[in-house]
Amino acid sequence: MILILGAQGMLGGEFRRTFSRALGWDRAELDLAQAENLEERIRGLGEKVTAVINCAAYNNVDAAEQHKELAFAINAEAVGKIAAVCKKLDVPFLHFSTNYVFDGEKGEYREADQPNPLSIYAQSKFEGEKLLQKNCDKYYLIRTSVLFGHEAQSEFAKKSFIEIMLELSQKTGTIKAVNDEINSLTYVSDLAKTVELLITKKYPYGIYHVVNSGEASWYDLAKEIFSATDKKINLVPVPASEFPRPARRPKRAVLLNTKLPALRSWQAALHEFLKNNRTF
Ligand SMILES: NC(=O)c1ccc[n+]([C@@H]2O[C@H](COP(=O)([O-])OP(=O)(O)OC[C@H]3O[C@@H](n4cnc5c(N)ncnc54)[C@H](OP(=O)(O)O)[C@@H]3O)[C@@H](O)[C@H]2O)c1
Repeated sequence: MILILGAQGMLGGEFRRTFSRALGWDRAELDLAQAENLEERIRGLGEKVTAVINCAAYNNVDAAEQHKELAFAINAEAVGKIAAVCKKLDVPFLHFSTNYVFDGEKGEYREADQPNPLSIYAQSKFEGEKLLQKNCDKYYLIRTSVLFGHEAQSEFAKKSFIEIMLELSQKTGTIKAVNDEINSLTYVSDLAKTVELLITKKYPYGIYHVVNSGEASWYDLAKEIFSATDKKINLVPVPASEFPRPARRPKRAVLLNTKLPALRSWQAALHEFLKNNRTF
């Protein structure tokens, strides 16, 4: 049986759909800010756990600048603890990190490139990567970037960029979007299928970059959203300096996937998601 942590988040929810027999825990079942009795909890399940997939994270990039301790507790210390328990129980550990561990100077990053995080959130995720690698051997450390998909069940979940754009389009005909921050984009359904492939095909343990092909600024993404949903919006490209935020972001942090079959383009994935999601 697969155990999913952070099961009510966007990615966790997708894994619950992908692995219908998996057991899902969220903060109510296990608060990762403490996570002291994880080993006993897993041993007490009565069924052998075959993999732990950790989708839980402190994900609020700007708020992390003020909540460093909590961000490190969940994104770093808890990851180290889970990794140690997985090693003890001889269970593979799948965990997710972010393109934000890179500083964006080089623009494109391979799996073995050296991180240089710019924000507290990114530092906490990089620390999680290091603790994971120190504490266990059977791991898939999967870096990904700008997720989109079905909304998280969690009551605290942030609104996705897609939702924000479509809500704004109901209220105004002119929208500004940042055009000088470039990321890879990832449809959670494609990410979950790739993770399923990693497990079932028994790929070697290690670091993987899983993102849809291509890259985009927030402006490019907004343009594609409005085109796919037939919204006539006057979309204005602006520099990130027009929207000052507490956390620094990389200018261009595109993840290169050099170890797995390439995923379809983010545009194709976005169109499929918007077509199948009637709420849009
Ligand atoms: N979203 C992106 O664009 C993006 C980009 C790159 C990498 N990633 C990484 O991908 C992974 C999945 O992200 P996501 O967007 O699916 O996350 P999400 O929707 O924000 O969900 C995060 C989950 O973590 C849980 N959580 C938070 N604090 C917790 C705690 N103290 N104890 C237990 N659970 C806790 C939340 O539970 P509650 O419901 O109780 O709050 C929620 O279910 C994360 O590792 C993230 O860093 C995401």
